[in-house]
Amino acid sequence: MDLVSVHSSSSLEPPKLITIKALTESSATGTALKSIPSHYNCTSTYDNPCENKGADASSSDPQDALPVIDFSLLTSADSEKRSKAIQDLANACQEWGFFLVINHGVPESLMKAVIDGLIEFFNLREEEKKEFEGKHVLDPIRCGTSFNPKMEKVFFWRDFLKVFVHPQFHFPNKPPGLSEVAGEYCRRSRQVVRELLRGISESLGLEGSYIDKAMDLESGFQVFVANLYPPCPQPELTMGMPPHSDHGLLSLLIQNDTPTGGLQLQHNGKWVNVNAPPNCFLINTADHLEVLSNGKYKSVLHRAVVNSQATRLSLAIAHGPSLDTVVGPAPELVDGQPPAYIPMRYKEYMELQQDNALDRKSCLDRVRTV
Ligand code: OGA
Ligand code: NI
Repeated sequence: MDLVSVHSSSSLEPPKLITIKALTESSATGTALKSIPSHYNCTSTYDNPCENKGADASSSDPQDALPVIDFSLLTSADSEKRSKAIQDLANACQEWGFFLVINHGVPESLMKAVIDGLIEFFNLREEEKKEFEGKHVLDPIRCGTSFNPKMEKVFFWRDFLKVFVHPQFHFPNKPPGLSEVAGEYCRRSRQVVRELLRGISESLGLEGSYIDKAMDLESGFQVFVANLYPPCPQPELTMGMPPHSDHGLLSLLIQNDTPTGGLQLQHNGKWVNVNAPPNCFLINTADHLEVLSNGKYKSVLHRAVVNSQATRLSLAIAHGPSLDTVVGPAPELVDGQPPAYIPMRYKEYMELQQDNALDRKSCLDRVRTV
């Protein structure tokens, strides 16, 4: 699909922007794609993803293993168990900003139905997907490729579907049935995130309902982002998503069952591979939790690398305050010093981040005071 025509200063021919799916499956030449077009080569713009493949956040050394939060302890009536879960959350948010959530109660069949439905969505004909293209960052349904090609010097090996699913639920009407399962999945995902944020409030020494009330979560903004990373003939030269942090409070990610993974997070200055075992959620803390906590719980840089073997699909759901909430540091967490961030309306922040090239934590840097 001809999403936008982009003019590149470095080549005479402006690259024609088509989805990665169409690019890799194009039968125009009758042969498989052997090399990537030059405008996907990001080795001079970003760290070479292969030079820095990333160590595994596996359990060989417990110090290096991604924290695991047992959701059933957090909702337990046993106060000792609950305190333990809150302490685990405090450590996870402070030391990693990324954690796995197990025993969350969301049916595995529902998670699988959403992932399978999304694969079908991306398998729709290009003309059918074009209907959902969207033009503006605040269009509630947008399907496209890279992140924001209008603003990018190099493109990313990624197609996406981005939908605003709360407080109003939007969704493409194809493939049949996906809208219903996605709606149910989003509702369950909000419940899990609100419970985690209750625990996180307490872990910050605030009332359990603090974040819920201050961030107006009843009308919280929820964005459903499906990412498709088709196999890439030269994965070492390109990237699925560049290093960035997410807007909002918490993001919840699941992925299809691939042998390779692809998500990496930055931990103690190193890129670490994150492989989520089946049936658990991967959660990361996002920019507005950093602001609200006055820098105690930092949002984490992460990126997606690609591989030559299998298509990877991930579903990341961003959970933020309501769009009209002005987010600044909680006064209870500012002692004596000037607050470390300037308050900003969530809607403006979100637009700013989405309307630019995705660039590490550059958006958060604009509201930082120190
Ligand atoms: C995102 C994201 C990573 C992945 O959608 O914000 O970071 O592994 N995705 O797809
Ligand atoms: Ni992200």
